[in-house]
Amino acid sequence: MNDSLIESFNEVEELSNKLEQIISLSSKLTTESTKKDSTFLSDVLHIAKDILPESDYGSIFTIKNGKWFYENAIGHDLKKLQSLNLKKEYLFPQSSPAIFDSASFNELNFKRFPKNIAEEFNKATKPLKSSLIHTLKIDDEIVGGISLDISKESNKKFSPQSIKIFNAFGNLITAFLVNHRYLEEKENFQKDLIISIINLLEIHDEYTKGHSENVALLSRDIATKMKFTSDEIKKVYWTGLIHDIGKIVIDNRILNKPGKLTDEEFETIKKHPEFGYQTLKHSKKLKDMAVNIRAHHERFDGKGYPLGLKGEEIPLISRIICVADTWDAMTSKRSYRDPLPKEVALTEIIKNSGTQFDPKIVDVFLELIDKHKIT
Ligand SMILES: [Fe+2]
Repeated sequence: MNDSLIESFNEVEELSNKLEQIISLSSKLTTESTKKDSTFLSDVLHIAKDILPESDYGSIFTIKNGKWFYENAIGHDLKKLQSLNLKKEYLFPQSSPAIFDSASFNELNFKRFPKNIAEEFNKATKPLKSSLIHTLKIDDEIVGGISLDISKESNKKFSPQSIKIFNAFGNLITAFLVNHRYLEEKENFQKDLIISIINLLEIHDEYTKGHSENVALLSRDIATKMKFTSDEIKKVYWTGLIHDIGKIVIDNRILNKPGKLTDEEFETIKKHPEFGYQTLKHSKKLKDMAVNIRAHHERFDGKGYPLGLKGEEIPLISRIICVADTWDAMTSKRSYRDPLPKEVALTEIIKNSGTQFDPKIVDVFLELIDKHKIT
């Protein structure tokens, strides 16, 4: 076999190894894309550097509100880069990926930035031999960029394969970024929608003003103390926020009645956990929450409603919300009474541990009080 053939084989092998890395990366990015934008992009930078081992440093930035913001950097001074006032218009139009040697990169910096920023920028970055830059575009608009750099002292260089791979990688990041932003927008939309419904409930039932948020926050603190996973903690928070959603279909003359309720009126109000369940149970995503909402007025001794579930038959999240709900109801002002003093409310919670409440949850709640996390 002659030398050039061996070299070609080596090249193909190297290329196929890198392609394999990119393919395995796809599945990683799929799970990563549920993370926050900045975490996702920071991870992407580290993955890129692994794929192009000749690189020593790197950085990744996004364009936000007309500014150029460094999400992460390897080797360079991230804090300094983040402190520079980099405007979007400083971006230099270039084909992607673009390769610069240190001379042309410094020259470019002085062309694209005002002099003082160029000087600061060069101070914030390590001395480079060359840089490979890929701009990330969505619908022809630059939304960010990723750069991998070789140190001035290094004797390595970016090979033609590396440049091709980096290009493919850049396109892959863009695709995931589109997906990621879409997911984030969808999640934000869902949050906005839920918050709007809660606001509507608060107009409908004046007693719940602020109550949903308080219950959500306290339930979240209890779940955190109980070492729930971050996904479970989020679920507890959202369930707390919408636990009384079923009240929206109850006549507000009953909900807002200042005086004592008749037995019949009380029976109507008691239907709200079931109404909440009926409203949410059809959604695949909210079904779990629906079950937890239905059980937030169950009692540990089985004397609650609507199903009369007992002990651990009651979902754990419902048992948490039950304590947080009762605490907030007792310690908040109602039109017919002032808030109960904290000590009285606390005695009430302790007194009902094991009957109304799960004693394990009460213990965690008491620990939170002890640490003055609840005021
Ligand atoms: Fe309730």
